[in-house]
Amino acid sequence: MSNMQIPFVDLKLRFEDEKAELLACVERVLSKGHLVMTPEVAELERAVEDYTGARHCIGLNSGTDGLLMALWAAGIRKEDEVITTPVSFVATVGAIVHVGATPVFADVRRDQNIDPAEIEKKITPRTKAIMPVHWTGRMADMDAILNIAERHGLMVVEDSAQSMGSRADGKHGGTFGFAGAISCHPLKNLNAVGDGGMMLTDNDEAAEKVRLYRNHGLESRDSVAIFGINSRLDVLNAEVLKFRLTKLDDIIARRRHNANLYRELIEAPEVFIPEEKDGASDSYVMFIVQAERRDALKAHLAGNGIESLIYYGTPLHLHKAAQRFGYKKGDMPEAERQCDLVLALPHHQHLTEDQVIYVAEHVNGFYGAA
Ligand SMILES: Cc1ncc(COP(=O)(O)O)c(C=O)c1O
Repeated sequence: MSNMQIPFVDLKLRFEDEKAELLACVERVLSKGHLVMTPEVAELERAVEDYTGARHCIGLNSGTDGLLMALWAAGIRKEDEVITTPVSFVATVGAIVHVGATPVFADVRRDQNIDPAEIEKKITPRTKAIMPVHWTGRMADMDAILNIAERHGLMVVEDSAQSMGSRADGKHGGTFGFAGAISCHPLKNLNAVGDGGMMLTDNDEAAEKVRLYRNHGLESRDSVAIFGINSRLDVLNAEVLKFRLTKLDDIIARRRHNANLYRELIEAPEVFIPEEKDGASDSYVMFIVQAERRDALKAHLAGNGIESLIYYGTPLHLHKAAQRFGYKKGDMPEAERQCDLVLALPHHQHLTEDQVIYVAEHVNGFYGAA
């Protein structure tokens, strides 16, 4: 196959694809003359409630704010411990730290998601919550996690930043526990034209608190119920997200098709691709394989015009910022092992079958499996 250039993602292509609709969103919003908390935000929230089955969706500035507010609304405070995974984006742990609580790490399974058996070992009298992450949009083992939470009287707050459109037994990511956070960062499946996020919850009181908190605690223009912050979802983003939500299922179907094709075509036994769990339907925000001699493979792919990325080379417990929690190398053996293997292959809805075949051939070729 002749040489191709395959970028990891291609947001410019997405713009070309949606240019007419996006410009119409800009026109609709700007022509109204109001740009803060107009009805577009509530319309998006209702549409996301319909899509996810959550009783409440609250539009925010980012997924990180969604995590923070979910923990805050769950009553997680100083002295509390929250058990979470070392395999995630830093915001998972940052949110726990910023409500004053202590993150406690539990190692992951081979599929990169938190291992329920490890959670159980980390429970102390101070544990208040479990925060699983549906990493890459792959659903964590929610049955087992909810079972542990129930037996120990713990809350579950889901980092569902990557799982818009992911379901387990028909239930949407972010709707299993007390609350969940969704990210609409440009690299997510439901993406804004910049930062954006949402919190999902079935709890009326939590929803009310977060609705107030994201808007300075304002009940009305001249009445402040609580001191809050400004984490209002942009109106333009709300309008774009409303439009993109109508395309989400199609985007996920295309991503799932490409993921299945990768699975079928990558034959090298040196490359491990986690399976989808029974009953799960994952959204594949990323397609991460675990590959032997990963760095050499990455260089080989780059030499053939294929961009790939390492998500991530350092587990969260070993970052400088986490030193004060006292973890050391060897504490999370599976997560640490995976950090040397993980490689995200190009994976987006505009990737053609030919491009997937080209990438898979070069992966196989590297290991001599072609
Ligand atoms: C697992 C995970 N948690 C939290 C976040 C934070 O979301 P945001 O970038 O919207 O603040 C992200 C997104 O980058 C993420 O991937």
